[in-house]
Amino acid sequence: EQVPHPEFEGVSYPSFIPFRKKGAKNVIEDIMNVKSRDSDIIICTYAKSGTHWTYEIVNMLLRNTTELDKNSKIQAMLEAVDDLSVLDSVPSPRIMDTHCLFKYIPKQHRENKGKIVHMIRNPKDVCVSYYYHCLKDVFINFDGTWEEFLELFMSGKLPYGTWYNYELEIERAARDFPGMIFTCYYEDMKQEPVREIKKLADFLGIACSNDTLEKIAKKTSFENMQKNKFDFTEIVDGKGFIYRKGEIGDWKNHFTVKQNEKFDAQFKEEMKDSRYKITFE
Ligand code: A3P
Repeated sequence: EQVPHPEFEGVSYPSFIPFRKKGAKNVIEDIMNVKSRDSDIIICTYAKSGTHWTYEIVNMLLRNTTELDKNSKIQAMLEAVDDLSVLDSVPSPRIMDTHCLFKYIPKQHRENKGKIVHMIRNPKDVCVSYYYHCLKDVFINFDGTWEEFLELFMSGKLPYGTWYNYELEIERAARDFPGMIFTCYYEDMKQEPVREIKKLADFLGIACSNDTLEKIAKKTSFENMQKNKFDFTEIVDGKGFIYRKGEIGDWKNHFTVKQNEKFDAQFKEEMKDSRYKITFE
């Protein structure tokens, strides 16, 4: 049900990734050598965890605006950039993003103690969101059933590997590099946007009035983004697929009782040493 994908160090990637670059083993290694600026922000997310949403909030805070970014896309998804030298001409402060494991982020960014904004979303909703994404994304080209997809998700065979590996690695990194990574929870951001945007602003060192925080919350609501953001993924059936539902708990419309029990058992085992406070509703 799934096309083969390029693989690197045991993890597969969507086929848009320019793997065949001359002179380097692949783009994942090139990312590690990106020259960093002190003002760079990298958004680190597992796929379907609210990357575009986080980008808009961070962009509004950094650029002191309450307007959605006119550009259709995040400035630079690192693993999707053909020629990383284009990043040299992006004005500061640059906002980049990646779904790659923390170990592949630019080395200099780590050395500079550059800022990282990490959004985490409960993996059941991530899985459902990823399912709909993969049904439509020509770079992934999945045409199987929900049941098959859930199996692929749970066994880490999807592009970007397992959710657990990704999130546990970044949790360890947050411990190893204190103050460098800010984790926000999708569910908290959805339920208490003003409070959570304030936390994010504090992390970025940006002073923001309550009025501005409220405006940002309104402009980055799902409804407003779905209506007003150009969705660059309009490639399959004329409908974009980034702004699908934007809800907490859509997994309940998809998981059977049995699938849910199996998922819970894996979650409990994998997350036994984790301090994340994941909420499913
Ligand atoms: P759903 O498929 O559940 O609707 P990413 O940007 O990482 O690809 O994540 C996409 C998911 O985030 C989609 O989830 C999308 O609807 C949701 N999303 C995008 N903007 C959002 C917003 N402003 N508020 C809440 N969810 C949002």
